[in-house]
Amino acid sequence: MPGRLYNAREKAPHGGREGDDGMPLYERHVFVCTTGKDCPKRGSQEIRDSLKMLAREAGLAVRVNNCGCLGQCGRGPNIVVYPEGHWYQGVGPEDLPDILDSLRDGRPVERLLNPRHHPEASAPPESDDPS
Ligand code: FES
Repeated sequence: MPGRLYNAREKAPHGGREGDDGMPLYERHVFVCTTGKDCPKRGSQEIRDSLKMLAREAGLAVRVNNCGCLGQCGRGPNIVVYPEGHWYQGVGPEDLPDILDSLRDGRPVERLLNPRHHPEASAPPESDDPS
């Protein structure tokens, strides 16, 4: 017996937007490293599952996918968000509300930015003090 097929509108996991073909349209796409050697040991699967659930509950047009190693092992759990290209490192459950806000407005969660991908985020603030 074939599995049940769901209508995208029926599931409404994507903020309710869909293209002419009935396929969901996403404003953002999140990749969470869940199959690398390091991030899963740090709880990345739970991060991914929770973020997906929170985004769904918030009605955001965001897709949250599992992915393989992002090449940032040792800094995880690692996440990347497109189209902005925000690379987040060391993401924990306590960070999910801020990431959710970022998924709404597109502004990065500065404290989580991976400095290898966002060197500007780790630069010391410019001082007005001329001394
Ligand atoms: S295991 Fe997650 S970035 Fe490599």
